[in-house]
Amino acid sequence: MVKLVTKYANGFVSENEIKAMEEKAVTALRTLNSKTGEGSDFLGWLDLPENYDKDEFSRIKSAAEYIKKNSDILIVIGIGGSYLGARAVIECLKSPNYNLLAKDTPQIYFIGNSISPSMLNEVVALCEGKDFCVNVISKSGTTTEPAVAFRVFRDLMYKKYSPEEAAKRIFCTTDKEKGTLKNLADKEGYETFVVPDDVGGRYSVLTAVGLLPIAVAGIDIDKLMAGARDAMESFCEESVDNNGCLKYAAVRNCLYNKGKRLECFVSYEPCFAMMNEWLKQLFAESEGKDTKGIYPVSCIFSTDLHSVGQFIQESGSSLMFETVVNFKEPVDDYIITEQEGNIDGLNFLAGKPMSFVNEKARQGTLLAHTEGGVANLILECEKINEEEIGALLYFFEKACAISGYILGVNPFNQPGVESYKKNMFALLGKPGYESEKEKLEKQLGI
Ligand code: PA5
Repeated sequence: MVKLVTKYANGFVSENEIKAMEEKAVTALRTLNSKTGEGSDFLGWLDLPENYDKDEFSRIKSAAEYIKKNSDILIVIGIGGSYLGARAVIECLKSPNYNLLAKDTPQIYFIGNSISPSMLNEVVALCEGKDFCVNVISKSGTTTEPAVAFRVFRDLMYKKYSPEEAAKRIFCTTDKEKGTLKNLADKEGYETFVVPDDVGGRYSVLTAVGLLPIAVAGIDIDKLMAGARDAMESFCEESVDNNGCLKYAAVRNCLYNKGKRLECFVSYEPCFAMMNEWLKQLFAESEGKDTKGIYPVSCIFSTDLHSVGQFIQESGSSLMFETVVNFKEPVDDYIITEQEGNIDGLNFLAGKPMSFVNEKARQGTLLAHTEGGVANLILECEKINEEEIGALLYFFEKACAISGYILGVNPFNQPGVESYKKNMFALLGKPGYESEKEKLEKQLGI
């Protein structure tokens, strides 16, 4: 279970300061639990690990079995909260090389998370001569990026298979009753899964949004939910001493009040890179409002110690802190061998596991960065497995919601996302946006 260690932030935030923030944190927690705060229509994720649709859960498992049995490839179409969670969990629990290593489960390609024609063509080419299924995920059912990609893969599907067969291979995860995607699915007879009304995109990984692709990858979704349930039960207390989730929210707000506007999520496991991306979306879309918020960035160490490590060490102190997710036990290991002649000078490591070297790199970096003035918060987890990742997802969701309320923003909306869309639609000449087009083109000088 996730455990927060704050002793490497002590020189930067005192226990007294954390205690002083406790009152605000407890108020935020109460606001969350009583569903009386801003965005309280979107709190379905709070008790989701227990209170989820069990019938749909077993339909997810059946659909995953069908996809596994009948396809070489699963195409997952979605953007933002409709894709990051699934990809993050699959890469973390399987591998970033999942598609090269998958033997008994389909390869999984994520598309519709950009508007890049070359990415689209590449994935279309990968489906050539292969059996494939599609899981299109969009809560609104109207987001441009996935809608365009779905058009492409639907065409491909109907070219390859009969209409009856194609319909069996398309799975739509969307609103339970409204939206373009829901209407299309009903008309064509595609199986549908629900993004609950009260769960926003970035909090939806433990709904069908994340669970169907995750189950197709061969990950045990019962264990994932069990881990989240453990976290739900563990992080309830109204005390920073007994609730690490509450304390994490409090400490990061203390650091924010001291001018730290940047949080760097760090892992020493490359498979965590997409989890970092999920975290970045969760915190950025939830907190970055009204000119407030901690900007989330991420690193994989020791990889990035050889790139941005220089900046963190010598220029990080004024603007940032690090949150390190540390897995105590490695999933796998490699023992370094003795070599005759010791030409590379590495025999002092002979007999040692690589995980030992990784741990020493972590400890060395911790000391160096804190000496460089960068506070470190550590989240200790046991091992990368379904239960721990389920718990971690829930921990961060809850911490983010509490943090947002402490900060004084609505953590469940994302009004800023609309600005680029409005301009893009006008510039594309979408009906209804005509009056804006000329003005924007003039501004751009085109
Ligand atoms: O967190 C969010 O709400 C967003 O990131 C959405 O998930 C994203 O914009 C995709 O929206 P939709 O699922 O409606 O296509």
